[in-house]
Amino acid sequence: QEQGERESLFIALNFAKDFFVKNLKTEEGKSIGLSYFKERGFTPSIIEKFDLGYALDGWDHLLKAAKESGFQEDILLKSGLILQKEGDPTRLYDRFRNRVTFTIHNVSGRPIGFGARILTKDKNQPKYINSPETPIYHKSDVLYGMFQAKKAIRDKDNCYLVEGYTDVISLHLSGIENVVASSGTSLTEGQIKLIKRFTNHVTVLYDGDNAGIKASLRGIDLLLEGGLLVKAVVFPDGEDPDSFSQKVGTQAFQDYLEANSRDFIGFKIGLYQDEIQRDPIRKAELIREVVQSIGKIPDPIIRSVYAKEASGLLSIEEEIIHSELNKALLKVQ
Ligand code: GTP
Ligand code: MN
Ligand code: MN
Ligand code: MN
Ligand code: MN
Repeated sequence: QEQGERESLFIALNFAKDFFVKNLKTEEGKSIGLSYFKERGFTPSIIEKFDLGYALDGWDHLLKAAKESGFQEDILLKSGLILQKEGDPTRLYDRFRNRVTFTIHNVSGRPIGFGARILTKDKNQPKYINSPETPIYHKSDVLYGMFQAKKAIRDKDNCYLVEGYTDVISLHLSGIENVVASSGTSLTEGQIKLIKRFTNHVTVLYDGDNAGIKASLRGIDLLLEGGLLVKAVVFPDGEDPDSFSQKVGTQAFQDYLEANSRDFIGFKIGLYQDEIQRDPIRKAELIREVVQSIGKIPDPIIRSVYAKEASGLLSIEEEIIHSELNKALLKVQ
């Protein structure tokens, strides 16, 4: 019974994917959706690879097509593709309208949800509308791009972690395929488990703004707790991996990643660089923060390797690091 419902949902999501992809080839789709993607530098082959599409302008294009193909209303509602009108639940309409669509696949490549981006700068509407939780889409267990990335993650034994759909796509255009997105939400244990199926190394590439740096710090600690080896790269203020790679080009972008990947200790020190030169109190804070992160690492040997590194980089006696570390570890228990 439940298995049957899940299968129906998969089929509905796949129908919607095909519908959005097909829409991109209509006159409206070409002049609005496709030209939007082209402006962002997305090629026909990347559009195909990621099942990018277009939701037509109008209230019920998908609803009508799905019903004509025999889909039941209850499945369409459960799929998150269709909504009930407030105050009149018998009136149904499309969730995604007049937006470009990003298909979210599960690890085996089946569509399970969508992100849909607005085409204008209208500040009264959300920039992205995403599928809700459904029986086949548990957001906390999904990373955007994993299906397209998993082989490269295994081969490179590293996973780049970005914030957004377009960051994933632009990295592919730059020849970097081992990349997934947390899609703007904070990282979860389920997502970390998913990464660990393919590698133990993560490089965090969040947006170069305050929100991105904060999210990096949170994400780094969670990844360390999960037993992963973590690096991070900071982008110039206001740039994200998509904008920066499109701006500087493939080679310069790859060089930038190479030159600016720091382990989590170097990343934290870099953030405080200027202040710690002249302010011992800030430096003490930084040391405590670094120690706090080291304390998250489950493996005592790796912990001790990082303690030694922190001692060197911060020019502080290793005993002090260890005694602070012991305090931090006691607190956790
Ligand atoms: P572009 O502006 O198209 O380049 O997108 P971006 O990925 O750079 O967007 P941003 O850095 O603002 O957000 C990162 C991710 O957060 C997006 O890819 C979405 O997954 C998600 N997100 C952004 N805006 C919204 C929103 O308004 N609503 C929801 N639910 N998610 C959002
Ligand atoms: Mn779940
Ligand atoms: Mn952002
Ligand atoms: Mn961004
Ligand atoms: Mn962006």
